[in-house]
Amino acid sequence: MKVTIFNGSPRGRKSNSNIIAESILEGARMAGADTEQIFLVEKDVKQCRGCFDCWEKTPGTCVIEDDMKELIDIYLDSDYIGLATPVYNMYMTGLLKNFTDRFLSLVTPHLRVQEDGSFYHEGRVKKFPQQFFIANSGFPGEANFDVLKNFFEKQDLVFELYRDCGEALQGGTEDPEITKNINEFRESLKRAGS
Ligand SMILES: Cc1cc2nc3c(=O)[nH]c(=O)nc-3n(C[C@H](O)[C@H](O)[C@H](O)COP(=O)(O)O)c2cc1C
Repeated sequence: MKVTIFNGSPRGRKSNSNIIAESILEGARMAGADTEQIFLVEKDVKQCRGCFDCWEKTPGTCVIEDDMKELIDIYLDSDYIGLATPVYNMYMTGLLKNFTDRFLSLVTPHLRVQEDGSFYHEGRVKKFPQQFFIANSGFPGEANFDVLKNFFEKQDLVFELYRDCGEALQGGTEDPEITKNINEFRESLKRAGS
C-alpha cells in the first residue's frame, strides 16, 4: 500500500503542514505502508491555461511541459493521497490550487449528475486513489476552515483534518500544558495514519 501526501505550503520542509503530514505518514508506515511526501514548492507546477487541449487535442495529456507528468504518475500509483495546506485567505494556497487544477486531464468533458443534483466530470482513469485532506490555520477557532469544509464536503474523503493555531506546532514553548497538547496531537495523528 502506498500513501502519498502532496504538501502545498510555500514553506515546504519547514512548514507546520509538514509536521502534521510526517506524523500521519509515520503512523501509516507503522501499519506497513510505503509513504512519500511531495513538497510542491520544490516542483515546477505551472498554472492551468484553460485551453482544454487535454480534452480536445491530446485527450488525457496536458500540453504544458513541467513536473506534473511525474506528479500525476505518483498520484495514480498511490492507494491513498493526502492534500496538505495552510489556510491562506480562508482557502488553500495558490500552490495547492494550481496543482489540483492541473488534474483536469484525468477527467473527460462528459458530465455526470450526482444524487444531490450537482454535476461532475466522468473519470478518465480506472482507479483514483482515496483521498484525505489536511489544513492548518494561524488563527484559533473552527471558523477559519468554513470555506475549505464547504468545498471538501462534496468530495468523498476518507478523513479531513483541521488544525487551528498551527504555529504552536513549531514548539519552542516552555508551557508544559501546551507541550502536552502538542504531543497528544502528534500521537493522534499517528493513529489516524495507521
Ligand atoms: C498569505 C497568507 C495568508 C494567510 N491567511 C490566513 C487565514 O485566512 N486564516 C488563518 O487562520 N491563517 C492565515 N494565515 C496563517 C497560516 O495559515 C499559518 O501561519 C499556518 O500555520 C502556516 O502553515 P504552514 O507552515 O504549513 O505553511 C495566512 C498566512 C499567509 C502567509
